Amino acid sequence: MGPHFKNIVLIGFMGTGKTSVGRLLAARLGRLFVDVDKQIEVMNGMEIKEMFSAYGEEYFRQKEAEAVRKISRRHRTVIATGGGVVLNPQNMRNLAKTGIIISLTASVSTILERTGRRNTRPLLNRPDREEVVTKLLEEREELYKKADFIIDTDGASPYQVSDRIILLLKKGGFIRG
Ligand code: S3P
Repeated sequence: MGPHFKNIVLIGFMGTGKTSVGRLLAARLGRLFVDVDKQIEVMNGMEIKEMFSAYGEEYFRQKEAEAVRKISRRHRTVIATGGGVVLNPQNMRNLAKTGIIISLTASVSTILERTGRRNTRPLLNRPDREEVVTKLLEEREELYKKADFIIDTDGASPYQVSDRIILLLKKGGFIRG
């Protein structure tokens, strides 16, 4: 597959800006944007929060894998994933087959600040959020490093992050211009 046909896939922990950056990036590049979490909700007619509380995390992970399989068949699309997508190696194989993997990172304090505004994330909807974030980040750290590009988002706006991504994509010959 030619480099211009590849999807642009954003991975990273909750609060690293995958959705905001992805939406902006797609608009700037004139491409379609697909949010895996949103797609799971549409495919199952249920919010993720509800899915976790009614059926548990395992069930959610199955639905997530199904959505990833389907979305990975696309081309030239900007895809924002959920933070736990990296836990399943098959997800990553599917996404990497048709896409460039870009990993967004942020410090614990940035993540706590960005995720503190909403309670839509079941894993963080608890009093010991800081410990949970620290522990999950530690567990997943190595998985988020398996990417074509890694971009630190601390102190950067979604627009600034999208600028950095566009620069890298141009240098790599993945987009024209
Ligand atoms: C999760 C991240 C969430 C969502 C679900 C589980 C995780 O997505 O998929 O709550 O395991 O990190 P965001 O990273 O978009 O918040």
